[in-house]
Amino acid sequence: MSLFGKNKTGKAPRPSMAESSDKQVLYQQSVQMPEIEVEFFTTTFQELRGKFPLVLKEDFCGTALLSTAWCQSNPHRTAVAVDICADTLQWGREHNLHPAGEDVAKRVQLIHADVRAVTDPKVDITCAFNFSYWVFKTRDAMREYFKQARAGIKPDGLFFLDIFGGTDCQDILEEETEMEDHDFTYVWEHAEFNPINHDLLCHIHYEFPDGSRIEKAFTYDWRLWSIPELHELLLEAGFSKVHVYWERFVEREDDSEYLEGTGEFFKASKEENQESWQAYVIAEV
Ligand SMILES: C[S@@+](CC[C@H](N)C(=O)[O-])C[C@H]1O[C@@H](n2cnc3c(N)ncnc32)[C@H](O)[C@@H]1O
Repeated sequence: MSLFGKNKTGKAPRPSMAESSDKQVLYQQSVQMPEIEVEFFTTTFQELRGKFPLVLKEDFCGTALLSTAWCQSNPHRTAVAVDICADTLQWGREHNLHPAGEDVAKRVQLIHADVRAVTDPKVDITCAFNFSYWVFKTRDAMREYFKQARAGIKPDGLFFLDIFGGTDCQDILEEETEMEDHDFTYVWEHAEFNPINHDLLCHIHYEFPDGSRIEKAFTYDWRLWSIPELHELLLEAGFSKVHVYWERFVEREDDSEYLEGTGEFFKASKEENQESWQAYVIAEV
């Protein structure tokens, strides 16, 4: 009898933790914080626009986790979630929309398209998160995306982008985060950075206590953009005002020289650089 694919006991070997994990689940657990983002949209929209936002467009939505949380947060909220990858949208339909129940699922419209092709229905907020819009690598391509995004937002709406930077962001590095509530380590890698054109190649890997690893679970081929470049392009695309929301940093309890982000963001115009920061760039139509 052939033992191909089996161990000496005749039983199939147990799959490693890496083999039995779903990378979309790992991504959602390690990268996304949808409830916090929904809260941030709500408070910032009320601060800048004086009203409660109801319609969200999530560009580069992936599994539409954020759109699902948006619709779960209020029965009158609806979302349009756009992604170019049909398989990822289908995963989101099965694992996020369906379990959220009929009432939520029917308020999330999944659209399989390039984000630049969708300008209807008009929304209160469009967001492009986890730096996904960095796939557009030239000023012309980014301006064109911003113009299309603006065309899909109501006259009193807002466009939210996230961005990272800091003195470490051009370094080749691997940063490990042990996921406290889950049994794996999230590894963020800057594999290549080209100072001539700011091309930045990043990977996400996952490591498990049994020694297994999902190598290059996700790869991103981006341009590293700066806040002033985005600010100028947003104005060129027709947005009227651009705000930067900066994270509040505090001294670490371990008394090290480094500061620690609090997850709280405020409107800012001059700040000290950090080794690593994440911020939001928010544009008014
Ligand atoms: C980094 S993931 C972002 C997932 C999710 N939005 C988040 O915040 O974590 C990038 C997603 O963008 C999608 N994508 C890349 N280029 C796109 C384009 N031109 N139009 C629509 N989706 C695109 C990919 O299929 C992928 O699902």
